[in-house]
Amino acid sequence: MSKIREEHAFIPESDLEGVSVDTLAVRAGQVRTAQLEHSDAIFATSSFVYGSAAQAAARFGGEEPGNIYSRFTNPTVQAFEARIAAMEGGERAIGTASGMAAIMSTCMALLQAGDHVVCSRGVFGTTNVLFQKYLARFGVETTFVGLTDMDAWKSAVRPETRMLFLETPSNPLCEVANLQELADLAHENDALFVVDNCFCTPILQRPFEYGADIVIHSATKYLDGQGRCIGGVVVGSSALMEEVYGFMRSGGPSMSPFNAWVFLKGLETLPIRMRAHCASALELAQWLEQHPAVERVFYAGLASHPQHVLAGKQQKGYGGVLSFRVKGGRAEAWQVIDATRIISITGNLGDTRTTVTHPATTTHGRLSPEDKAEAGITENLIRISVGLEDIEDLKADLARGLDALTR
Ligand SMILES: Cc1ncc(COP(=O)(O)O)c(C=O)c1O
Repeated sequence: MSKIREEHAFIPESDLEGVSVDTLAVRAGQVRTAQLEHSDAIFATSSFVYGSAAQAAARFGGEEPGNIYSRFTNPTVQAFEARIAAMEGGERAIGTASGMAAIMSTCMALLQAGDHVVCSRGVFGTTNVLFQKYLARFGVETTFVGLTDMDAWKSAVRPETRMLFLETPSNPLCEVANLQELADLAHENDALFVVDNCFCTPILQRPFEYGADIVIHSATKYLDGQGRCIGGVVVGSSALMEEVYGFMRSGGPSMSPFNAWVFLKGLETLPIRMRAHCASALELAQWLEQHPAVERVFYAGLASHPQHVLAGKQQKGYGGVLSFRVKGGRAEAWQVIDATRIISITGNLGDTRTTVTHPATTTHGRLSPEDKAEAGITENLIRISVGLEDIEDLKADLARGLDALTR
């Protein structure tokens, strides 16, 4: 790559051809201004100006490319979109105001009344509510199936099925779906295969390589990685993303330029953070598995995990989230949570700071008792998003409550 650029305001895409995802995380998507800033600029502006009335008309008429208004496009948001699209290996990305806005925009853009969705039961609780309560009001029906039950996915598909939707690994039980088999099922039935890749990020899993049509993220999680901003993104082919862009422009759940800038900074450290999260989560899972107060640990990196082999093939690491059941019920789970002094009690995950959650009463609290039971969200379940603190300090923080249960 030449250090002296005649066209200093633009880094040609060819400079990054063939580089690894780690390099894309740091370099992709940046378009320098005439100020030659090294870091990405924040374009904190709601609208853009034109040289003449004729140019304004050409922009609004779509005859001339360029920015009009930051609900549609903004250079900082576009830099983030280009970077994550490159990392996922998709043609185009659309940034959104939140992860839920990314899921909603995908559904609003690509589904219509009469369509049917098959969705994993093990998705984030609010995703479940979006499908079950809100999309149902607009005539989109959803059937929920167990993430790893291939027969259930097959028998749920109907002639009007237009979308298969899942997260893998799932939240909070870390179940792993076979992406290739589900992509094939979707395509045999002319349906879109949509993967929420929030838990793995493109550093650990690239769903397009297994046939996914759309990849979604809550950027709030690992992409930021430091718990600062809410945001989301949808990635896919140019044709599909044009539809999502159309909804975003009209529906308005756009990403703020400031948040896009934070996510750009987050992406630069994503590869090293993900590797550190994976190493600590594996060590913590192994430690928990031998603790006498623990009934069961859910983490795909453990040999005891039912999809351990599949996760090893499909992912480049097992991720930073794990969950475990303590011996007892809600009281014992809350006792372990309340005994922590370093770990934060909060619903967020994917942070440098380790977080602990009681899914049954927080993230999945709105599910009916039957849905909770079917999704395996028991009262004694605790979810940990393993951060970047010293692993021995994290073990000591959990040991305080766990040891008390064994006394
Ligand atoms: C897997 C997954 N998808 C989507 C979301 C929704 O993202 P957001 O909170 O950014 O709307 C979450 C949030 O926790 C999540 O865990």
